[in-house]
Amino acid sequence: MVQLDWSNLAFKARETNVIVISRYIDGAWTKPEVTSDYGIVLNAYACVFHYAASCFEGLKAFRGVDGKVRLFRPDENARRMQSSAAFLDMAAPPEQLFIDMCVQCVHENIDYLPPYGYNASLYVRPLLFGSNPQLGVHSPAESTFIVMCAPVGTYSGAAGLTPGTATIARNYDRAAPNGTGCYKLSANYAPSFHPYNVAHGQGYRELLFLDPATKTKIDEFGSSNFLAIKDNTYVTPLSGSVLPSITNKSLQQMALDFGMKVEKRVVPVEELAEFSEVNACGTAVVITPIYSIDDKPTLESTTPTLTYRFGTPDKCGAVSEKLYKRIRGIQDGVEDDTHNWCLML
Ligand SMILES: Cc1ncc(COP(=O)(O)O)c(C=O)c1O
Repeated sequence: MVQLDWSNLAFKARETNVIVISRYIDGAWTKPEVTSDYGIVLNAYACVFHYAASCFEGLKAFRGVDGKVRLFRPDENARRMQSSAAFLDMAAPPEQLFIDMCVQCVHENIDYLPPYGYNASLYVRPLLFGSNPQLGVHSPAESTFIVMCAPVGTYSGAAGLTPGTATIARNYDRAAPNGTGCYKLSANYAPSFHPYNVAHGQGYRELLFLDPATKTKIDEFGSSNFLAIKDNTYVTPLSGSVLPSITNKSLQQMALDFGMKVEKRVVPVEELAEFSEVNACGTAVVITPIYSIDDKPTLESTTPTLTYRFGTPDKCGAVSEKLYKRIRGIQDGVEDDTHNWCLML
């Protein structure tokens, strides 16, 4: 195993032993190749550079308390990539190829899989893009599928479950109505760089996007879903422009297992005043408690018209903590994986 400062990995790109590559050429996927060369060569006319034909996934492998390696729900990521690729009219790797390449990537880079007990994991990043040269605006004939991985700690760099603040992005949208928000397209993310920079510059950890058509309903954070707790109910937005989060889906099942009610429905912004706990959830952030959300006329304005508060800045809500412990427990092999979510490697 490599020697890294496992307690301070942050969430950043790091080259490991190898990446795994397959190409879709002449209607078929090539046998996956393993290479230590991260410097892939592409034609300057490659479709991805000009027309952003690209989608990606993110999932995690964990070294458990029992020393076994668990990959969390790779079948779900495989299917989501197929749905993203279908929207782009691109060939997607079949589910088994996707899973096999993720497994191979973890095995080949096992030296980088963090030990149990550091709240760290091996983040696996499958990436699919149109790689043939073209000038016409149409979907690519050839694609490249690469799986890479990096050891990561918490997304924000703060200890797990450290509450943070958020602000609403009233004058920016993450996705258009009837657009691409429900797919994990690379092109969804670049437009959020600027509003995130503005929000981070003002000290906010997260940025909350509203439904782009009416700006009256909650959609999601820039790279994570929104979940709230109200009495014994788990509330999460139902919206066509939200990415179907695998973490959120798993947490909803856990909430049901705990005997809670789960409501996936339209969430008006004003309902923020009624929630006792609010979190961002996703593979990278797991559950990140949000203790306040500012609503401002524009992201650039410095005075909020309203501040919604949930719990206290120093402590995660009790229900959120229970959900966090359960999902992390399953991933670490500390709790029973009653729904068979982990693929044992
Ligand atoms: C926009 C967006 N929403 C939600 C999520 C969380 O999804 P998941 O739980 O599948 O990681 C992500 C991260 O993948 C994301 O980028």
